[in-house]
Amino acid sequence: MASGQDLADRVVVVTGGLGRLGSSFSRVLAENGARVAVLDAKAGPKRRPPLLAGLGEDRLRVFEADVTSRSALEDVRQQVEAAWGPVFGLINNAAIDAPPDAPVSENGPFEDYSEASFDRMMDVNVKGVLLCCQVFGGGMAAAGAGSIVNIGSIYGILSPDQALYQYRRDRGETFFKPVAYSVSKSALMNLTRYLAVYWGRSGVRVNTLVFAGVFADQDPEFLKAYLPKIPLGRMAEPADYDGPVVFLMSDAARYMTGSTMVVDGGFSAM
Ligand SMILES: NC(=O)c1ccc[n+]([C@@H]2O[C@H](COP(=O)([O-])OP(=O)(O)OC[C@H]3O[C@@H](n4cnc5c(N)ncnc54)[C@H](O)[C@@H]3O)[C@@H](O)[C@H]2O)c1
Repeated sequence: MASGQDLADRVVVVTGGLGRLGSSFSRVLAENGARVAVLDAKAGPKRRPPLLAGLGEDRLRVFEADVTSRSALEDVRQQVEAAWGPVFGLINNAAIDAPPDAPVSENGPFEDYSEASFDRMMDVNVKGVLLCCQVFGGGMAAAGAGSIVNIGSIYGILSPDQALYQYRRDRGETFFKPVAYSVSKSALMNLTRYLAVYWGRSGVRVNTLVFAGVFADQDPEFLKAYLPKIPLGRMAEPADYDGPVVFLMSDAARYMTGSTMVVDGGFSAM
């Protein structure tokens, strides 16, 4: 039996595939032989990341859809299947988080954290994943083969360390890393386990990939506090996560389901 990582024309849907990590995953999946359907809420010709340049329509197509809309997802599935046949893989990568400059109703004290923000984050980060699993995973189960990867975060297995953000409070800001993102990412781990059991005999594998922070010109004060917490001594770059994504889409991971694979530079080891 093949043990390699050749994806040999496997059709893979990458949600949020125009984003920082999603575009890296889309590129590497295509380079390893997959046909990649990028699904993103904000598509359009002006938003094609340079990383995706040069990939022809036979290898990568972009579809505009919101993961919170079941009908939009069904529409994408129909178009993808008409072009390329059954979907084999799904990377549930689309997610939102409160930006560092969000208002105090989001980045302030837990006691005042906005209900609207909580609802929106659970809607995209949890319900959106559930809907994608229903729409694309259901087809995989019917076909008897597939792989789903839910993108998690170290903040879904550990609490954010609020001491990392002390430098902002020292500057007089009211800043705490908010709660909803963490809750949403930990919810994915049991959605993964649930579906791994539910679809185990149907040939659909479901796993969570847990990532740590990606370098994006963060505030030097933040880096001063954060870097000592990473045994490998640096924040991630998107390509650090490419290998695990390809692995989980390939037959090399054929006996792996229901698992939480942590790729975090050692952050959770201490
Ligand atoms: N960047 C990090 O430091 C980091 C760390 C750990 C985990 N993660 C996880 O990795 C994944 C990708 O993160 P990123 O940094 O590339 O984010 P990003 O913001 O660069 O990309 C997210 C993409 O998702 C799309 N999107 C958002 N809402 C959507 C919706 N409702 N429907 C469809 N598409 C939608 C956005 O348009 C965007 O293209 C996320 O799940 C994130 O939680 C990121």
